[in-house]
Amino acid sequence: MEEREISQAVIRRLPRYYRYLGELLEDNVERISSNELSRRMQVTASQIRQDLNNFGGFGQQGYGYNVKYLYTEIGKILGLDIDHNMIIIGAGNLGQALANYTSFEKRGFIFKGIFDVNPRLSGVSIRGVPIRMMDELKEFINEHNIDIAVLTIPKTKAVDVANLLVDNGVRAIWNFAHTDLDLPENVIVENVHLSESLMRLSYNLSRYNKEHIE
Ligand code: NAI
Repeated sequence: MEEREISQAVIRRLPRYYRYLGELLEDNVERISSNELSRRMQVTASQIRQDLNNFGGFGQQGYGYNVKYLYTEIGKILGLDIDHNMIIIGAGNLGQALANYTSFEKRGFIFKGIFDVNPRLSGVSIRGVPIRMMDELKEFINEHNIDIAVLTIPKTKAVDVANLLVDNGVRAIWNFAHTDLDLPENVIVENVHLSESLMRLSYNLSRYNKEHIE
């Protein structure tokens, strides 16, 4: 497939295509027209065609999209065709909740370990994985070929811990701590802020109220 720069807006939409196609596959749907996909996803058919044209189209005139093929190809684009070993740093409320979520594994994100500094948590097991102390981190990363670390620690600790992870070879950080990380270019960071999503919800709610109620 021809390599070209894909806009971040398109990349942001791909996981949603992937999710819908996964559901279609589960329902044994073999092919789907862009119009039908558009109806289900509430995205215009031309947007779908435009998005998928970035990757060479995948569709056939008069046939639509082959669901399995499209699902597999988008999976490859998203890097989901290979497994990623993942560790969680910070075994508090959020860290434990993420560790308990089994569906990441279905997408190839394998939960290998969880770390904390609180000795009271040492050895407590989550889905059969013991919480380890940070002094075991270095060896663990090397032994288990960890490429993704999830940061669920206080923001005051995030920068130091991120640097430690990078020094030990971690290449990608899923950062929940509310702070920006200044890391080398070859380290990929995805920041997650649930409160931003909540603020968008609040905005849409107040806009709706203004238009329909007040
Ligand atoms: P928590 O207090 O329950 O857990 C934090 C854990 O990190 C504790 O177990 C603590 O011992 C551990 N920890 C502290 N320093 C550490 C270090 N240097 N190395 C390893 N572990 C360390 O807090 P909670 O509720 O789980 O939140 C965790 C973080 O995620 C906080 O920074 C919070 O603000 C943030 N958060 C972010 C959200 C988002 O949408 N981005 C949503 C909710 C929380």
